[in-house]
Amino acid sequence: MAKEKRIGILTSGGDAPGMNAAIRAVVRTAVYRGYKVIGIRRGYDGLLAADITDMDARSVAEIVHRGGTILLTARCAEMMTPEGQDKAAQICKVLGLAALIVVGGDGSFKGGLELSRRGVNIIGIPGTIDLDMAYTEYTIGFDTAVNTGMDAVNKIRDTSSSHERCSVIEVMGRGCGAIALWCGLVTGAEEIIIPEKGAVESDYIIEQIIKNRAKGKTHNLVIVAEGSGGTPALARKIEQVTGIESRATILGHLQRGGSPTALDRFRASMMGHMAVNLVGAGEYNKAIAYRGGGLAAMDLEEALSVPRVYDDSIYQMMKILAI
Ligand code: F6P
Repeated sequence: MAKEKRIGILTSGGDAPGMNAAIRAVVRTAVYRGYKVIGIRRGYDGLLAADITDMDARSVAEIVHRGGTILLTARCAEMMTPEGQDKAAQICKVLGLAALIVVGGDGSFKGGLELSRRGVNIIGIPGTIDLDMAYTEYTIGFDTAVNTGMDAVNKIRDTSSSHERCSVIEVMGRGCGAIALWCGLVTGAEEIIIPEKGAVESDYIIEQIIKNRAKGKTHNLVIVAEGSGGTPALARKIEQVTGIESRATILGHLQRGGSPTALDRFRASMMGHMAVNLVGAGEYNKAIAYRGGGLAAMDLEEALSVPRVYDDSIYQMMKILAI
């Protein structure tokens, strides 16, 4: 009798809402195809410790709506070393994995690429709230993070407008301004500060706020991307120079949690399903992308080499819509 195909799956790096929907789709598609699924706990940390769990259709029940990842996750320093990569590849071989599905961001994909160079078949599913993977127009968790950020800014806006204050709100995103741009546009922010545009002079922001007051705006929302930072200092300076009461809020990890939106569940399900179909077709070392309105599989190494190009059009539109 032919040995059944064994597929490994792990989630790695920062968790993102929708990862569970991807895990569910991988497991159920694999079960449907007659494959065995090995869940690896705590990302590459767990792979290096061979911390595994057998998964079946029932083990992914009741998770499609849950944030986080049932497989747990970690940022693994050992996986960045050649010794760690050799050891992880060896463990994949001992486990008899026909393929390893990696759900995570750039760093997780880089680990996957190193494994593929050591003979492990990899499929990457983009999972990060940051939307900072240039080869794809969508990453799992971004939509939920933006909706959570929007919700939080809406609430801050109520109190900001009642007190006629300036609210400076920092959102996550590491070195990428995508969450800030989206949150800023959909909440009607007056200003968005993102790392892609370089250092922003506080004098420029203050000048804008003074002009806004003169135009009759009674309060201001300034959205700052984590990668730009300086949020509390900026709020203090705005208050000192303009006399307008200002408050800083750093949203932090609340943006990483929560029940995934319909979009994140839908696309994560499609990506998980496609990942197993790629394994079935023997198409390995691919990164699943969302591009031009549909899914595509791109060579993993090529995907990692796509440079991030900043498009200023959302910022420019925000400035027009905030007049
Ligand atoms: O990559 C996702 C992310 O939430 C970033 O937006 C943020 O910079 C980082 O992870 C925070 O990492 P940690 O949870 O390890 O503090």
